[in-house]
Amino acid sequence: MAILITGGCGYIGSHTCIELCKAGYEVVALDNFHNAKPKVIERISALSGKPLTFYTCDIRDARGLSAIFEAHTVEAVIHFAGWKAVGESTVLPLEYYENNVSGTVTLLKVMRKFGCKRIVFSSSATVYGEENPSPLTEDMPVGKVANPYARTKLFNEHVIEDVCAADPDFCGMLLRYFNPIGAHESGTIGEDPNGIPNNLMPYIAQVAVGKLPYLQVFGNDYPTHDGTGIRDYIHVVDLARGHVAAVAYALSHTGAQVVNLGTGVGYSVLDVVTAFERVNQIPIPYKIVPRREGDVTIYLADPTKAKELLGWQAEHSLEDMCRDTWRWQQRNPNGYDDE
Ligand code: NAD
Ligand code: UFG
Repeated sequence: MAILITGGCGYIGSHTCIELCKAGYEVVALDNFHNAKPKVIERISALSGKPLTFYTCDIRDARGLSAIFEAHTVEAVIHFAGWKAVGESTVLPLEYYENNVSGTVTLLKVMRKFGCKRIVFSSSATVYGEENPSPLTEDMPVGKVANPYARTKLFNEHVIEDVCAADPDFCGMLLRYFNPIGAHESGTIGEDPNGIPNNLMPYIAQVAVGKLPYLQVFGNDYPTHDGTGIRDYIHVVDLARGHVAAVAYALSHTGAQVVNLGTGVGYSVLDVVTAFERVNQIPIPYKIVPRREGDVTIYLADPTKAKELLGWQAEHSLEDMCRDTWRWQQRNPNGYDDE
């Protein structure tokens, strides 16, 4: 009996492979390396103490997927595979719908063919849109989302809810992540963005290592304690453990469940910069620049449901996130290209 992880070589998938192995699950992973490097497989294997069972496969390839389901009895799927660049999705909406939504439909059809009735899906806090007030709860209305990427997440939530409605034995866990940052404490796996990072923590890490001259802080005129935007940053290992808890739940329940994975604690951009400088003893030069289009003042989870339903809550501090990010970046200044 195995748990199949799609996108298992990506940032969150790689950390989840390790936590699932540690929890005693048999893990089978697939990836098409659109946004990952094969090198991560040996690192995952080293950290889990056994070779990772891995397939190069695209989730849009029903035959390739079927071969994996034929070779393994897949009890549940954790579905990370997808494209995630918000800006790119506005330029390539059709490609995003094809990869993220059609890919998910293909995966669900193969699961149905093989009688696999449990899926844990990577949704995003972005589905709450700009109008709901923080802290965000799972029962708030969704729908007014700002870009095609966010809409692919929302569509996939609906697709999975409809599958659950059509099959009373099916379980779909729709996990809405807040802002994952950090890396495995070994410093051997972490986030390896292509080109110049879009997100705050990888950008800070590249400034720290000298690849970028300074951080641009997008606006200091928000109504927050220091004027910069507030987010709910969650350590990627906590997030990975949230998936272990969600899989355990899915294996013994039916129906669709939406669950926030966040800490419930918010930090501003300058809070993160200051924590990184303090923990790692490295100055992070920054300049205040105008607000980034589409950014909101504050995005914060209410994590109550995750605790009540899954018995899960985040344990790592912002300091842990800064320390582990830096350990990964320092040891791998060019990500997985370093060897
Ligand atoms: P990632 O890009 O590091 O991982 C995704 C993996 O999926 C990559 O390894 C990529 O090669 C693979 N992939 C993409 N399309 C594929 C396909 N058609 N077939 C097979 N493999 C494919 O991203 P991540 O940060 O690990 O995110 C994982 C999931 O979580 C994504 O669905 C993302 O949208 C979602 N998510 C991420 C964040 C975040 O801030 N990182 C926030 C909310 C939701
Ligand atoms: N920021 C900067 N400078 C940068 C990058 C970011 O000041 O170079 C600021 C942003 O303005 C924001 C905060 O840092 O206030 C966090 O920005 P990120 O880009 O790291 O994260 P977002 O909250 O904008 O978005 C992320 C993912 C989305 C996902 C969302 C919620 O990129 O895909 O979290 O899960 F939907």
